[in-house]
Amino acid sequence: MPSLLIKNIGKLVQVKDTNEAVKGKQLKELSCIDNAWLTVDGGEFADFGAMKYCPLRAEGIIDAKGGMVFPTWCDSHTHLVFAKSREDEFVDRIKGLTYAEIAQKGGGILNSARRLNEMSEDELYESAMARLTEIRSYGTGAVEIKSGYGLSVAGELKMLRVIKRLKHHSDLTIKATFLGAHALPAKYKENRNKYLELIVNEMLPQIAKEGLADYIDAFCEKGFFTPKETAYLIEEGAKYGLPAKIHTNQFNSMGGIETSVGGNALSVDHLEVLNDAEIAVLKNSNTMPVLLPSAPFFLGDHYPPARKMIDSGLPVALATDYNPGSSPSGNMPFVISLACIKMKMLPEEAINAATVNAAIAMGIQDTHGRIEKGLPANFFITKPMPSLAYLPYAFGSSQVERVFLKGRE
Ligand code: NIG
Ligand code: FE
Repeated sequence: MPSLLIKNIGKLVQVKDTNEAVKGKQLKELSCIDNAWLTVDGGEFADFGAMKYCPLRAEGIIDAKGGMVFPTWCDSHTHLVFAKSREDEFVDRIKGLTYAEIAQKGGGILNSARRLNEMSEDELYESAMARLTEIRSYGTGAVEIKSGYGLSVAGELKMLRVIKRLKHHSDLTIKATFLGAHALPAKYKENRNKYLELIVNEMLPQIAKEGLADYIDAFCEKGFFTPKETAYLIEEGAKYGLPAKIHTNQFNSMGGIETSVGGNALSVDHLEVLNDAEIAVLKNSNTMPVLLPSAPFFLGDHYPPARKMIDSGLPVALATDYNPGSSPSGNMPFVISLACIKMKMLPEEAINAATVNAAIAMGIQDTHGRIEKGLPANFFITKPMPSLAYLPYAFGSSQVERVFLKGRE
């Protein structure tokens, strides 16, 4: 007898048995079963089907009363370990300063780094755990978390150790990314190479020794790190078996896409500024483009050309970029609404981008991002909704009612 039966599911969403990227025209196809049931056993999806063949017995039975069942979201890009919020910069931007100007004044990432280095590992852990609890309530079941607010050997290790503790104690699936090259600390201003050598000779070996990271990242952008420096870090990360996930093309197109694809990056993230040649480079690659629309929403910037990318045949993934500077929110349903409203993605496209493709962008596509027999039972039940499109349509009001990870609520 299965441990759990969910019956009267209005729509069982993203039923699929392949882990391949969903690209171009395929993105608007979403495989669903209307009026369905689902069983869970041993923490895994056991079986599902149409209500007229619903099993009668299980240890526990939930009546979804027409609510839909989705696989939990995968949020493949966050910085959710951080010390303090930065609403003072938010007000500065309202008054007219730009993100780049605030960064040049020593605000931004360097501001977060100062505060993080003053905070204890325990405090960081507690506040990050609270954020995980919050994002789980939005239906997120897996999350990637970056370092990058330490920018010193001790600070980066502290952040990554916090992420390692979160991995052990949270029921979410977590991947850790080392982002030592998030910003150049002020004291290395006249000697950039010295900071790069610190990353390569001191941070990376220790991180590898303690098994603290799954991926490596760099912020390839004017005023941050160049494509050449990014290429160097991708190469050094690869020596320790860390595939790259690169912040690029947020404000400028300057070669970050070619560099990342050339380095076999798992993903390139942001892409607010993306030209046709770069779209062509991505088309000839296995690198997943990850769009973070809550960052341009929050910064009042323009959005990535998602429509053009999809119409050219590319896959895309969606993530929140949860961080105190450019996206102080880890709300995946809101990101899905923004994708539809601001980037003209269809609801089905956005859902594929937040599940199957998002799982690929964080390397967990064998076990996450869809409903398939034998996979960990990570799913949520929504309130009764008239249609799939209602989820992004009803922006700002949560439809997610009950969240289950490995079969447990
Ligand atoms: O993805 N752009 C670089 N990093 C983050 C912002 C970090 C911050 O401002 O604290 C981002 O937007
Ligand atoms: Fe980011």
